[in-house]
Amino acid sequence: MKRIIIEGNRPLSGTIKIGGAKNSTVALIPAAILATGTLKIHNVPGITDKDALLEILKLLNIKVNEEDNTIILDARNIQNGVVTEELAQKLRASYYFMGALLGRFKKAEVYFPGGCKIGSRPIDIHLQGFEALGAKIKTENNKYIITADELKGTEINLRFASVGATVNIILAAVLAKGQTIINNAAKEVEIENLIEFLNNMGAKIKGAGTNTIIIDGVSALHDADITVIPDRIEAGTYIIMGSLLGDNLTIDGVNPKHLTSVLTKLKEMGIGINVKENKIIITKAQGIKATDVKTEVYPGFVTDLGQPMSVLLTQAEGISHFEETIFENRMGHIPNLQKMGAKIKFDNTHAVFYGPSKLKGAELTATDLRSGAALVTAGLIAEGTTIINDADYILRGYERIITKLSDVGAKIEITEI
Ligand code: UD1
Repeated sequence: MKRIIIEGNRPLSGTIKIGGAKNSTVALIPAAILATGTLKIHNVPGITDKDALLEILKLLNIKVNEEDNTIILDARNIQNGVVTEELAQKLRASYYFMGALLGRFKKAEVYFPGGCKIGSRPIDIHLQGFEALGAKIKTENNKYIITADELKGTEINLRFASVGATVNIILAAVLAKGQTIINNAAKEVEIENLIEFLNNMGAKIKGAGTNTIIIDGVSALHDADITVIPDRIEAGTYIIMGSLLGDNLTIDGVNPKHLTSVLTKLKEMGIGINVKENKIIITKAQGIKATDVKTEVYPGFVTDLGQPMSVLLTQAEGISHFEETIFENRMGHIPNLQKMGAKIKFDNTHAVFYGPSKLKGAELTATDLRSGAALVTAGLIAEGTTIINDADYILRGYERIITKLSDVGAKIEITEI
């Protein structure tokens, strides 16, 4: 287990460079198996979720080379295989191999996915999409076996605009016969990035960034390059840290358009934010105004920033409300914040913050990736020492977080225990 130790209450100044988006990367890597040639993915973040996906590619006989932040994949000798329980359980996005292997080989054998425990997270919408395309699904000893004689394009209406289901159905449909229309598709920018990659490979997909995606099936895909977009969640996390401790803290390499809902909310709270092209400069606010935050699908306030945001709400003057509408339980960080002295009442999807509360260092436990990011944020503003157990979660989605924060003045270290 990894443990993060923070000595809190130090200003943050200097520049933090944002890496490529985790949620793009975890879709782009499985998508690579749809082509038979050489694929290059640039600006790949150094996160452990990426490492796990590359392990799966190796299992499928794909040659993987990493040069700095570029990965080069040679899929010429690709072979279908079972995505093992050990690898599938490492992350949620292992389930993108269901759509990709089905699309490529008309057969996918993938064990149940892992990922953060933030609700029951069913995948019925993914499976209904595969079935609509003509696939048959069996489950056997925690494994999905999905087969099709032929995949045929059709019109699919998603009952919820699920990111994962939209990605998986696109992956299964690009090589299907005829046209697939996905209605009520997710509009997240990471899906636009995926569609750009697939179109670079020769796919015919329209409607990226809208809720209707139209895929005209093609018979094969070829060599292609793609650059991963900046990680809006990583950027948002550091922007929130800057709102609490920034002294001209610069967050560099962002796409501010992807962060509109977050920046609007922070401005409403009185935080000084200066946007200059792909940089955001933040200085700690003197008095933070209480507010209400409700998570929504893109372009609404992103659920992944709800947990770091709640640390900011503990410092706002007055009563703030937080509502999580996407997942059933994303409140694992709250008991930890209470332990540090924050005054919060909560249930699975709502929290009320009575701020400002002075936070004191404590021994905490990360319960998932973004709760871990919230605890780091809390540790940075707390008086004294904060210890965060199960910090492995954090490294799944934040590249070089210790170095990035140390370089701007934080006193933070990570140890293996
Ligand atoms: C993705 C992101 C995650 C983000 C989330 C919402 C990745 C790897 N992860 O997760 O960081 O927080 O989008 O923006 O990109 N649902 C069903 N049935 C399904 C699929 C989903 O009921 O078949 C429900 C889920 O339980 C959840 C909600 O729909 O309550 C949203 O899920 P979804 O959009 O699929 O999120 P993920 O793809 O898991």
